Amino acid sequence: MTSPVVAEAEDLVRSGIQRVSAAESLDDLAELQTELLGKKSRLNAMRATLKDASPEDRKTLGRALNVSRTELEKSLKGRKAVITERVRRAALDAEQLDLTESLGRVRVGHVHPITQTWERLEDVFVGMGFSVEDGPEVETDWFNFEALNLPPSHPARSLWDTLYLDSSEIPGVAQEQLVLRTHTSPVQVRTMMRAVRESSGPPIYVVCPGRVYRRDTADATHLPVFHQIEGLVVDEGITMGDLSGTIEEFTKAYFGESLTSRLRPSYFPFTEPSAEVDISQSDGSWLEVGGCGMVHPNVLRHAGLDPERWTGFAFGFGIDRLAYIRHGVADLRDLVTNDMRFLEQF
Ligand code: PHE
Repeated sequence: MTSPVVAEAEDLVRSGIQRVSAAESLDDLAELQTELLGKKSRLNAMRATLKDASPEDRKTLGRALNVSRTELEKSLKGRKAVITERVRRAALDAEQLDLTESLGRVRVGHVHPITQTWERLEDVFVGMGFSVEDGPEVETDWFNFEALNLPPSHPARSLWDTLYLDSSEIPGVAQEQLVLRTHTSPVQVRTMMRAVRESSGPPIYVVCPGRVYRRDTADATHLPVFHQIEGLVVDEGITMGDLSGTIEEFTKAYFGESLTSRLRPSYFPFTEPSAEVDISQSDGSWLEVGGCGMVHPNVLRHAGLDPERWTGFAFGFGIDRLAYIRHGVADLRDLVTNDMRFLEQF
């Protein structure tokens, strides 16, 4: 027969475990621990009665009370681990940084106005049937000048204030052989040579946008690092009429029907005849956006094409200038100083 003390101890354990597993906070748990196992606990009081029991009973009851204590301690410890982990998680969640927080003002970035202009220009020309090519910004003197009908010491070289790279330590490269390209025209030569190599020649209808460099001081209308888009058409029977028609078509597609273009006679060593391209402004004035002309026979020859069979035209526009016209920018330098108050307008 189970002694009433043992039965009570078992009851204490059963109800104690139930209450422990219902505890929701560490405070509740601490209170329960005192109540169940502390000095004034029922278990303690029961232990105090052991001294009056017979030696055999004392042994069995003592063991029963010890087991009860151990069981309750185990349950308290387990519950404590669960609650501690829950508290830790809640703290982590609360401390988590909300990186999307913006104090009510969401700053949405956008593409830089020069890049916008670059991409729009590509779109317009692709819409007109051109494909897009690019070439290296570090060029050889041959591609940047010589192949474009500007042999060394040609007086017109001074039209391009050139930045030369120090090539003294590059084996096999003579000094003044490497330049930062002063225009996108070397891509004309590369494209023609590739066409000869890969598809036995023209037709070629390409535009080549890219960054170019000149030894120049920045002012309101000039930047030492700027962007051009080169156009090149080489085919049979291409005339100056095709050139002016293409430029006018482009002007309307890019600026809208109300603007127009004009060609003003000029000189470039790589085109003959040559012209400057002006675009009409809303106030009736004209702004120069680039040059153009019929590809010089020497340039075709340098690229490996027979000028008796092929003719072509080329043009080169300043992308930054076009952005300047389109957005009414007053000073080109504003485009590159990265002032958010300026850039946010576009
Ligand atoms: N490359 C010339 C420049 O940068 C522009 C140009 C391109 C002129 C193509 C004629 C033909 O000044």
